[in-house]
Amino acid sequence: MSLNDLTLQIEDMQERVTQLHKQTNSSSSHLQQLEVMMTALAELGFAIDELQLANQQLQAKNEELAIAHQTIAAERQRYQQLFEEAPDAYLVTDTLGVIVEANSAAASLLGSSPRYLPRRPLANFVPKEEREFFRTQLSQLSRGEGIFEWEVNFSPPKQPPVFTLVRVAVVRNSRDTNISFRWLIRDISQRKQAEEALRKLSQTEREKTTQLELALTELQRTQEKLILNEKMASLGQLMAGVAHEINNPVGFIYANIAPATEYTNDLLHLIELYQQHYPHPVAEIAQQLEIINPDFITEDFPKLLESMKIGAERIIQIVVSLRNFSRVNEAECKRVDIHEGIDNTLLILQHRLKQQPHRPEIQVIKEYGQLPQVECYPGQLNQVFMNLLCNAINALDELNKEHSLEEMKTYNYTIYICTEVNEKNSVAIRIADNGSGMSKEVQQKIFDPFFTTKSVGQGTGLGLSISYQIVVEKHSGKLQCISDLGQGTEFVISLPICQRKLP
Ligand SMILES: Nc1ncnc2c1ncn2[C@@H]1O[C@H](COP(=O)(O)OP(=O)(O)OP(=O)(O)O)[C@@H](O)[C@H]1O
Ligand SMILES: [Mg+2]
Repeated sequence: MSLNDLTLQIEDMQERVTQLHKQTNSSSSHLQQLEVMMTALAELGFAIDELQLANQQLQAKNEELAIAHQTIAAERQRYQQLFEEAPDAYLVTDTLGVIVEANSAAASLLGSSPRYLPRRPLANFVPKEEREFFRTQLSQLSRGEGIFEWEVNFSPPKQPPVFTLVRVAVVRNSRDTNISFRWLIRDISQRKQAEEALRKLSQTEREKTTQLELALTELQRTQEKLILNEKMASLGQLMAGVAHEINNPVGFIYANIAPATEYTNDLLHLIELYQQHYPHPVAEIAQQLEIINPDFITEDFPKLLESMKIGAERIIQIVVSLRNFSRVNEAECKRVDIHEGIDNTLLILQHRLKQQPHRPEIQVIKEYGQLPQVECYPGQLNQVFMNLLCNAINALDELNKEHSLEEMKTYNYTIYICTEVNEKNSVAIRIADNGSGMSKEVQQKIFDPFFTTKSVGQGTGLGLSISYQIVVEKHSGKLQCISDLGQGTEFVISLPICQRKLP
């Protein structure tokens, strides 16, 4: 029975009760009963009205529900379509990584049909050697830890491997328990290839740049070496030539001094005998004796010969030094006395150390230690001493540019040369001057080839760069500079006593 029928019946009963009420006036108890019935029937009518209203509302809700249901179905279809047709691979797995759902992009990425993917563990598509790591990631995801995005290398059957970036979202139920994972898998093989190509390209570029830099450095070195070789060769040849030319005549002079002394002594002795036995010679001889003053000759001539001997000995010493210095025939590494090399160099520089119109003589203070013979290329090392000593003299010459001659008259122009044995089987040679010194900026560049503070034509700027090369590269030693502007300069050469591996 519908609500409407019920309402009609109740209205009918109400009618009949009203009729009964009109006909029955006999007893009051009957009347009371009828009034109770009429009240009950009236309330029943109200209840049915409310019920009818509720029914209408229910029907409206039902209609709304039906519309919502249709919308959800349409949404689901749309989602399914999106899921299916998405260009990226989408997967749903359970928390153990077993595939529940996969779109066609995922299927083609994994080299399988979408129908066969469900129930297969996703880990099966990861190469064996990377599976362990993949499973660790999965278990971390289940615990809600770990990263949600990482790179995975998939190797689908019968297909080349695919480099992907996976992004995983954890799906939780209302009790906050993980129920599944949603995977977005993006193929980044092309990006990886491009990155790799770029990396290789920049690596090649870097290598090329390094090669170019090396080639440039090598070129500079070769240039320096060429200049050095040329310098050394021409200097050496010049020195050797001059030494050879001087050697012979000075040899005659020196060799003749001894017989000349003997002859002179004989002649002087003869004059003395004549004077003893003929105390009154003839007038002409007496006059001549007066002029030449034999007593003075007797006294002065041996001195004269002695100084000639010393002079000749000095020339011979210089000739030896010149030959030693140039060492044209000694290209090999050998054990030598370092002090001999320094002394030879000083001897050659003697003329520069002497008093000059602009300054007094430069004092050379030597503090030589007990050095063993040092294994080295002696000719090249002499070149280093020459460069350092020349620089020291130049720095002392510079002083009068900043001070007046008067001021500098009392100044002690000094070069200190000190040698000692270091621990660790090496020797140290210190060459210091109390000259102009250097600023920090100049010090940073002194070993650069062609760096010079001298005016054009005064210096090549190669002295120290060549010295550095000789000490550090040729002899595995060290060349340090300690200096301050206005405080003088000290160069320290450290050389191993034995050359282990000769370059
Ligand atoms: N003892 C020193 N005191 C002050 N400055 C120095 C000293 N030694 C070197 N220098 C500075 O270092 C620069 C470079 O020296 P380096 O010997 O390489 O070249 P140069 O002396 O200028 O030229 P070259 O040696 O070819 O004649 C010098 O120009 C000078 O400024
Ligand atoms: Mg120099």
